[in-house]
Amino acid sequence: MDQPPRGAAWIRGGRGECEPDTAPARVYRLVLLGAPGAGKGTQASLLAERLGACHLSTGKLFRAAPELGPCDHTPALAAALEHMRRGELVPDPTVLGLVRERRGCLGCRGGFLLDGFPRTMAQAEALDRILTAEHVRLDAVLDYRLPLDQVVARLGGRRFCASCQAVFHLQARPPRAEGVCDRCGGRLERREDDRPEAVRVRMAAYEHDTALLSQHYRRRGLLRLVSAEGSPEEVYARSLLALA
Ligand code: AP5
Repeated sequence: MDQPPRGAAWIRGGRGECEPDTAPARVYRLVLLGAPGAGKGTQASLLAERLGACHLSTGKLFRAAPELGPCDHTPALAAALEHMRRGELVPDPTVLGLVRERRGCLGCRGGFLLDGFPRTMAQAEALDRILTAEHVRLDAVLDYRLPLDQVVARLGGRRFCASCQAVFHLQARPPRAEGVCDRCGGRLERREDDRPEAVRVRMAAYEHDTALLSQHYRRRGLLRLVSAEGSPEEVYARSLLALA
């Protein structure tokens, strides 16, 4: 029988049962922080592909919601998508409910890359409790830093595949055929929360809530600052240096 794709349990819910293709030389359990558009998702994809850890993104989980079965379309999820459309953070109880249902993914033998979670102090404290219960520890928190003008340029040119969620950029990572996903042939779209008015709300949420997390993880000796300037490969190389 075909194995579900790695990380499928994160999107669909239930216990994480995926196995790394080969046992990784070193298991990484990381949190990726950074402003919207800094390139966390791009780095998480590279790190997942090359280090064998599962890419666990709460944003991706919400964006995949339209594909879930009708039973999963709860009023809380519908409200969450409306918050997201406006660029606001989804309320902690909704996010934490979804993450707790998927906590088995944090015990994955290949490790994990948490992208977009935690985002508030309440989420960070809940994550600490979940990790303790799962008997795993974070290795490091990579905090990607990018000047605002480059953040705006990255968000303005981003396109994503509505079918497989692959991410492109009109200038930095253009698809081979305009408007068509290289990976699955799906249609490329602009994210609704990349509209300028939603971006302003997201940046404010980042500065108000998420930036505080850097201090929390610095105090615990886990924080690694990484410049997100330059090409994805350059940022990837810096990420590895920060983890050495
Ligand atoms: P989420 O999906 O997590 O979005 P985000 O944190 O705002 O981050 P982005 O996905 O916008 O950017 P990214 O840093 O991953 O950049 P990317 O790699 O795509 O969350 C979305 C929403 O969901 C939130 O606003 C909230 O409503 C809700 N939500 C999610 N988690 C939540 C939580 N825990 N609590 C509450 N609410 C939550 O790169 C951006 C672009 O730049 C791409 O086009 C890419 O190709 C390009 N690019 C990347 N790197 C480079 C590079 N080095 N050079 C040139 N171009 C590059």
